[in-house]
Amino acid sequence: MFFPQYRARRIRGKEVFRRMVRETSLSVNDLIYPMFSAFGSGIRKEVSSMPGIYQQSIEHLVAEAQEAFELGIPAVILFGIPEMKDAVGSDAYAEHGIIQETVRELKKQVPGLAVITDVCLCEYTDHGHCGVIKDGDVDNDSTLELLCREALSHALAGVDMVAPSDMMDGRIQAIRMTLDANGFDNIPIMSYAVKYASGYYGPFREAAESAPQFGDRRSYQMDPANRLEAIREAAMDLEEGADIIMVKPGLPYLDIVREVRNEFNLPLAVYNVSGEYSMVKAAARNGWIDEERVVLETMFSFKRAGADLILTYHAKDVAKLLKRG
Ligand code: PBG
Ligand code: ZN
Repeated sequence: MFFPQYRARRIRGKEVFRRMVRETSLSVNDLIYPMFSAFGSGIRKEVSSMPGIYQQSIEHLVAEAQEAFELGIPAVILFGIPEMKDAVGSDAYAEHGIIQETVRELKKQVPGLAVITDVCLCEYTDHGHCGVIKDGDVDNDSTLELLCREALSHALAGVDMVAPSDMMDGRIQAIRMTLDANGFDNIPIMSYAVKYASGYYGPFREAAESAPQFGDRRSYQMDPANRLEAIREAAMDLEEGADIIMVKPGLPYLDIVREVRNEFNLPLAVYNVSGEYSMVKAAARNGWIDEERVVLETMFSFKRAGADLILTYHAKDVAKLLKRG
């Protein structure tokens, strides 16, 4: 490709040409909208670090989910803020826990919307860790039992897909076996397979009220410096029966998204996490960036890196932008 035989600008000269040679596309079908369900009624409280995102009681959540559905968004992922927390996260697997009730109501009122649940204990434990504490650390194998009960309780409530985010070893296999043994062999698992111990989760912990009360999550979430380990984690979950694998966070780990895409042929999701959202919102509010432009550019970065699905707090805004064209 030498100048002047080749002029790279020729094909960029008209919008219609740019449209014709665009290499990746973004569709509303790629989006999953995360929502926070709070115990009680009449609650709709904006998360201060996440403008536009609310902790809300079931009736408000259902109304917003209906809106997302009407925008064409195929799925939501739910996080719960229970009435009470305890050492073993009992509400996480209670028949009438916050998530179980939310799933029932959503499936009743917006049946066409796919409901995915986050399967983890940190939103339900008083210590804020993703599992049971033994000798000052999260105990892997006893946590697995509780995660299985949690996933099963979501299935019994009518969930369409479960998404374990705890990072315990062997959880995909354990949950798969539990679901299968109870007649739920048709419920897919989206695994948070490659999840880093990240500072970008800060605003989420305000939204989900799930900050660890001591220590951090480095004994179960991945070290941000690691790349090969991401391949091992994804391979492990795939062999255990994951249907979709996820990389999280998104923007700081686009290299990992690409590597996982090159290595495996499963559907791949990326989580554009709370801190990524908050930074865009904060800069936009200050007039430092053009929000719509930056959001679309961010979505394209995920598609370019090879992601099929994007979990993002911008989902409704993106759906509106795509509609407008
Ligand atoms: C729970 C969970 C977290 C997120 C999704 N599921 C927080 C964490 O691991 O501390 C983060 C999502 C976000 O930051 O948007 N395990
Ligand atoms: Zn957790």
